[in-house]
Amino acid sequence: MGFLSAIEVDNELHIQEISVSQQFQGLGAGRKLLLTALEHARKRELHGLTLTTFRDLPWNELFYRRFGFETLGPDEIGLRLTTVLNNEVNHGLPGERRCAMRLKLR
Ligand SMILES: CC(C)(COP(=O)(O)OP(=O)(O)OC[C@H]1O[C@@H](n2cnc3c(N)ncnc32)[C@H](O)[C@@H]1OP(=O)(O)O)[C@@H](O)C(=O)NCCC(=O)NCCS
Repeated sequence: MGFLSAIEVDNELHIQEISVSQQFQGLGAGRKLLLTALEHARKRELHGLTLTTFRDLPWNELFYRRFGFETLGPDEIGLRLTTVLNNEVNHGLPGERRCAMRLKLR
C-alpha cells in the first residue's frame, strides 16, 4: 500500500520519504504511517522529527503542519537540513518550491 522511510540522526527522526500507492491514497494510510513514526520517535525519546517537502502541494507542507510540523526559516534550518535541500537541487528538484520542517518533541 505504501511506506515511510526514516533515519535517526542528531537525536531526531528524519523522514526521508513517505508514499502511498495512488489507489490507496486518501484512505488514512499516510496519516497512520506518520503517526507511527511519531510514536516511534517518542518511544526513543528523540528531540523531534524533520523532513523536507514541497511548499505548494496541499498533501505536503500543509499535511505535515496539521501534525505539528513547523516550516523552518533560514536561521533555523541548520547544516544537516541545508545539505539535504542542496542535494535535492543537485538532483533536479526546484529549490524555491522546497522547504524543511521540524516537529519538536522536547
Ligand atoms: C502524501 C501521502 C503520503 C498522503 O497519504 P494518504 O494515505 O493519501 O493520506 P491520508 O489518507 O492519510 O490523508 C491525510 C491528509 O492528507 C490529505 N490529502 C491526501 N491526499 C490529498 C490530495 N491529493 N489533495 C489534498 N489533500 C490530500 C487528506 O485530506 C488528509 O487530511 P485530513 O486527514 O486532515 O482530512 C500520499 O498522498 C502520497 O503518497 N502522495 C504522493 C507522494 C508524496 O507526495 N509524498 C510526500 C513527499 S514529502
